[in-house]
Amino acid sequence: MVRIKQVAEDLYLLRMDDTRVKYFEAVWEIPEGITYNAYLLKTDDGAVLFDTWKQNYEEEFVEALSSLTDPKEIRHIVVHHMEPDHSGTLPKVLELSENKADVWGHSFSKRLIEGLYGISPAFNAIKDGDTLEIGGRKLVFVQAPWLHWPETIVTYMPDEGILLTGDIFGGYSIPNGTFDDEADVENYLHFSKKYVITVIGHYKDKIAKNLGKLEQLNIAPKMILPAHGILWRKNPQRIVQAYLDWGEGKPQKGKVVVVYTSMYRFVEKAIKIAVAELEAQGYKPVVHKIVDDYHSSLADILSDVADSEAIVFGTETYESDAFPYAEFILNEMIKKVEYEKPLLLIAIFGWAAAAGKKLRSTIEKTSFDLVDVVEFKGLVTPESETRIKKSVKDLGAVLRP
Ligand code: FEO
Repeated sequence: MVRIKQVAEDLYLLRMDDTRVKYFEAVWEIPEGITYNAYLLKTDDGAVLFDTWKQNYEEEFVEALSSLTDPKEIRHIVVHHMEPDHSGTLPKVLELSENKADVWGHSFSKRLIEGLYGISPAFNAIKDGDTLEIGGRKLVFVQAPWLHWPETIVTYMPDEGILLTGDIFGGYSIPNGTFDDEADVENYLHFSKKYVITVIGHYKDKIAKNLGKLEQLNIAPKMILPAHGILWRKNPQRIVQAYLDWGEGKPQKGKVVVVYTSMYRFVEKAIKIAVAELEAQGYKPVVHKIVDDYHSSLADILSDVADSEAIVFGTETYESDAFPYAEFILNEMIKKVEYEKPLLLIAIFGWAAAAGKKLRSTIEKTSFDLVDVVEFKGLVTPESETRIKKSVKDLGAVLRP
């Protein structure tokens, strides 16, 4: 579905609701879908286009754009970010503008345009504070590197207090409304957190750094227009604070994420004891599993780690090594959500222990605080049950000293 809407004086949203995509970046499960938001500013001296859509929707984009302006009227195209979900239709727009439009962006975007699309349009490489004035409108550009590519920039319209942010402040899902005062914000923030963690998580330390830079430049937007999800006009500070919280892994009180793999449910039996003990201590476990009839979403697992107080990780030995999915999930946790959070490891084996030792060695090199490693052979005996309960109590002691 295509949504075209005026969002401020002379400024229009062009939104594509992508319900066809199942895996964002071919990896992150998004049954909730995603929107691609581009914007068009119309002035008496020509139009400015901010970003485009994924190439799959080129035809729809051209139709939507042409309903607002003749593409030959576009004088400038601002590229906030070159990932192809936003730049995929750029070559077509340049072609339709008969190459009258020039491109504004980070110098690295010029190389990416050449590298990804084999074209070299007229290009203006921006530095912090560079301005573009057109038809009585002023645009100020600021670099925001590594949120989440090196070439990320934002555009500020100081007279209107509007900040166009590319991926930053975006989220998954297809909200019913356009703005935060029209949408179910609480529900949306769940998808926005999942988006931040999966897409920006590897560079989460850059969130506070770049947002601090905007503050130093006295950019306090009245309206935030991101390239995915809902637009913020009622309470833009809400999404700013949420991004800061997710960047630092601020925990929800009592939330413990429990992740386990279990080939034949031996690990599951051990995990059930841990979950019952967590609940007895007043925690709220959120359980994710990899078993023979169900695989939790990796995106959801990572997203839940981000605002948890602690992690319980259960797995088993497989071919004298760590279980493949356990290693994969742990490695992604280290890449995307490595925070200083307590972690309890429960590892089970059949004839020879290997997973516990291998994963211990991996976890000890991270910021996770490895509280305990509980490792035992298959069957949950009364002794191993006692051992699991004690380790969960020790985890609680770390959280509530
Ligand atoms: Fe929405 Fe990084 O692209």
